[in-house]
Amino acid sequence: MVGGPTYPVRLGRKDGFVSKAEDVEGNIARPTMPLSQIIAIFASKNLSVQEMVALVGAHTIGFCHCKQFSHRIFNFSKGSEYDPAYNPKFAKGLRKLCANYTKDPGMAAFNDLMTPNKFDNMYYQNLQRGLGLLDSDHALAVDKRTKPYVEMYAANETKFFQDFAHAMEKLSIYKVKTGRKGEVRHKCDAFNSIKP
Ligand code: HEM
Repeated sequence: MVGGPTYPVRLGRKDGFVSKAEDVEGNIARPTMPLSQIIAIFASKNLSVQEMVALVGAHTIGFCHCKQFSHRIFNFSKGSEYDPAYNPKFAKGLRKLCANYTKDPGMAAFNDLMTPNKFDNMYYQNLQRGLGLLDSDHALAVDKRTKPYVEMYAANETKFFQDFAHAMEKLSIYKVKTGRKGEVRHKCDAFNSIKP
C-alpha cells in the first residue's frame, strides 16, 4: 500500500508458548537508550550496525505518540525549551501538535514528516536536516558508527531497499520455532489455546 521493496515472506512461521511482559525490557530498543545499548541489543539478535540502520528505515512510515519525544520539546534545558538538535521550525510545530498531550495521550506525530505515507528513503534525508523525531533517530545521523550508513541510504534509495529487504528476511527466520516448540497462530497476538 505504501510502496517500497518486496521480499519473500516464508509461510508457517511458528510462535512460542511463552509470552511475558517482563521478558521485553532489555530485548527491545527504547528511544532514550544510548546508541551503544541499542547497537548491543541488535547485535545480541545477530544484527549488524548496518542492518540496524537499514531496519530503522521502517520509520519512513507510521507515527509516534507525543510522550515518546515530549522531553525533547518541553523544558528541554535551562537555555532552551526544545532540543537544539531539532530543526527549529519542526520543534515549534511539534510543540503545537503536542501542547495537550497529557490530556490527550492519543496525539501523535508522523515519523517521516515529509512523506509519511510513502515507503522511501526520505527518513534518512530527514535525519540530516534535524527532522529525526526520536532521540534514537537523531543519534543515527550524528554517531560516527551509524552516520556513514545514514549518508549512504539518504543518497541511494535502491541500496536502502535492498538492505532493508535482506534484513527483514533475516529477521523473519530469527529464532524460528520448529516442531512441537511452537504453533502457527490463528490470531497473531494470542496462543491458539485461548478461545475468544
Ligand atoms: C532504534 C531502534 C528503534 C526504536 C528505539 C524504535 C522506537 C519506536 C517508537 C518509540 C515508536 C512509536 C510508538 C508509539 O508511539 O506508538 C516507533 C514506531 C514505529 N516503529 Fe520503531 N523503533 C526502532 C526500530 C524499528 C524497527 C527495526 C522497525 C521495523 C523494522 C520499526 C518500525 C516502526 C514502525 C512501522 C512504527 C510506526 C508504528 C505506528 O504507526 O503505529 N522500528 N518506533
